Amino acid sequence: MNRADAAAGGARAVDGPLRLEVIIASIRPQRLAPVVADWFVRTARARPEFETGIIDLLHTPLPTDLSDAPETERFRQRLADADAFVAVTSEYNHGYPASLKTALDSAKHEWRAKPIGFVSYGGLSGGLRAVEQLRQVVAEIHMVSVRESVSFHRARKQFDADGNTGDGAAIDAADRMLSQLAWWGNALAAARVSEPYPG
Ligand SMILES: Cc1cc2nc3c(=O)[nH]c(=O)nc-3n(C[C@H](O)[C@H](O)[C@H](O)COP(=O)(O)O)c2cc1C
Repeated sequence: MNRADAAAGGARAVDGPLRLEVIIASIRPQRLAPVVADWFVRTARARPEFETGIIDLLHTPLPTDLSDAPETERFRQRLADADAFVAVTSEYNHGYPASLKTALDSAKHEWRAKPIGFVSYGGLSGGLRAVEQLRQVVAEIHMVSVRESVSFHRARKQFDADGNTGDGAAIDAADRMLSQLAWWGNALAAARVSEPYPG
């Protein structure tokens, strides 16, 4: 039984890949973000549990005043159709990019009762301070942040010309994070079908 059948029948069983959306936070010119995101998306697409899409905020111009726009509607629909998320985020002045905050604030119910993982990068901290802030924010919008996260310290040095990394800790963390996302994604998809989330 697939999720559509389960939704129609109110059953708990969930089959088929989870819809994973990878959100690219940085919108800077000459950003490193696509290198990190491409590596992660290749890693996710090698996993059978997921059908993986990309939401690049550079190409998703959401109004910063949070007013409704056609782009916001399309963005919300992508989120509504998703079962799990990964934010690929840089760190700016110990925080995460404003573009990502706008994205998080531009939807509401579409995020709820869904898991999110983080791939961060930066200088010495590897973006870990940005991730700790994000954990607080996603809790407020009723998401579950998975424990494992991927971080790249001195990120520009961690990828070769083909976009591959030799950072064994990051490779291992990505694998664990995807397993945790799959577990939560399946559990929460079944739970959302079984009973409306009391948000
Ligand atoms: C405005 C600004 C502030 C930054 N602050 C930090 C920081 O607090 N910690 C850190 O590790 N790196 C910091 N960096 C370095 C960035 O994490 C690094 O340049 C990274 O490549 C940015 O991602 P992007 O190129 O995809 O935008 C900062 C960079 C910028 C432009």
